[in-house]
Amino acid sequence: MECSDQITLPLLFAVGTAVIGSLQFGYNTGVINAPQTIIEGFYNETWTSRHSEHISQATLTTLWSTSVAIFSVGGICGAFSVSLFVNRFGRKNSMLMANVLAFVAAAFMGFSKMAASWEMLITGRFIVGLYSGLSTGFVPMYVGEIAPTSLRGALGTLHQLGVVVGILIAQIFGIESLLGNASLWPLLLGFTCVPAVVQCVLLPFCPESPRFLLINQNQESKARSVLEKLRGTVDVRADMQEMQEESRLMTREKPVTIPELFTTPAYRQPIFIAVMLQLSQQLSGINAVFYYSTGIFMRAGVPNPVYATIGAGVVNTAFTVVSLFIVEHVGRRSLHLVGLMGMAVSAVFITVAMALLDQLAWMSYVSIVAIFCFVAFFEIGPGPIPWFIVTELFSQGPRPAAMAVAGFANWSANFLVGMGFQYVELLCGPYVFIIFTVLLLGFFVFTYFMVPETKGRTFDEIASSFRQSASSESFGKYAAEEFNSDF
Ligand SMILES: *[C@@H]1O[C@H](CO)[C@@H](O)[C@H](O)[C@H]1NC(C)=O
Repeated sequence: MECSDQITLPLLFAVGTAVIGSLQFGYNTGVINAPQTIIEGFYNETWTSRHSEHISQATLTTLWSTSVAIFSVGGICGAFSVSLFVNRFGRKNSMLMANVLAFVAAAFMGFSKMAASWEMLITGRFIVGLYSGLSTGFVPMYVGEIAPTSLRGALGTLHQLGVVVGILIAQIFGIESLLGNASLWPLLLGFTCVPAVVQCVLLPFCPESPRFLLINQNQESKARSVLEKLRGTVDVRADMQEMQEESRLMTREKPVTIPELFTTPAYRQPIFIAVMLQLSQQLSGINAVFYYSTGIFMRAGVPNPVYATIGAGVVNTAFTVVSLFIVEHVGRRSLHLVGLMGMAVSAVFITVAMALLDQLAWMSYVSIVAIFCFVAFFEIGPGPIPWFIVTELFSQGPRPAAMAVAGFANWSANFLVGMGFQYVELLCGPYVFIIFTVLLLGFFVFTYFMVPETKGRTFDEIASSFRQSASSESFGKYAAEEFNSDF
């Protein structure tokens, strides 16, 4: 039995190959940050040569915001298509097929300059968003299904780590002396085909998910031999039994549709909580930093804005690792609360620093520290927790529908911030982060009163508490009090 909990080479290899997909998502989240001014220059130039007049600031803002945010529109479409692939083609083949999108996107973005076409860049951003939406569904599923139960949490967090490392790599490549300059930025965007090649070469050597083989395809002997390879032992009875048990549970609990989530009283409150937590993640303003930090640092008078952006990426990665270690020991609810409050306070400091910059030059350093804290607190709570909680609030039956709704809420809010931030910043100037402060405080209050602690509770305990609160009609308060009593 003990052998089955070991990290074996085939397991590590398969997980490592899969999280290349997470890396891609992170890379494309971070990649448009550093070269913003340079690519805007290209838009301006292209516009000038087509229309023989300079582009207006308003048009440029619209074009750039679209280039940034269309990624999330692709993400929404991708996230909704995950279920079309995984059960038909298997997890491994789905990941393999998705790479076609990465190649197409890389070509569109990489050749946009040569073709003097920002339309191609925007199309490429959409396609790579599609890829990212799919892979944020595929990767955690595959990793969760090949990992032994005792390592599921630890290996699952590698997805998150892959994402933040991807952001960091993009920020480093974005340095002007590397790829973030007027001649090489197409390579910076097109680079996304390199991890795709690596994944295409390695994936054929990875096993298909044993859970897919057994439950979806009923290939028991194949599933067994895959498990033996992954676990490094021939005694895989426990794993097989667990999957068969799960399969039995699945046939007993019929899948819940998305409309049913909202009409069934027992699901209404958990889905409301799940959606609000996703919104708290995206409307915290984190992507204002990951998409636009170089511009923010520039306006805050930081001498080397790109290096400050890389610093934010390093802080982000470091605190993701920190949160991996504490999330299983401290309650999710408390971490989320700490994270939200920390971000709110940091946002106040960012605002103060931006507002006082004209009087006090050293305020630019305050803005750096404040943004670093903002990112650190994000990774403590609002980064990882919302995804954890969705899986914990729902059992097998309603979980896929709940994940789809949560994913939709997440990507939509991501789009809103990516698209709207520059406009709001034009309107509010240095006070733009006040909006995030207000939102963060709102989410803090919501979490305090409505979100139960889920750590160390079985699904049954959580679900029955929601059923009770649904029947007692005091929406939310009851369940939260129930849970908080031992918090
Ligand atoms: C576009 O480029 C021209 C010439 O380089 C410059 O004068 C103008 O300010 C630019 N427009 C914007 C909106 O950046």
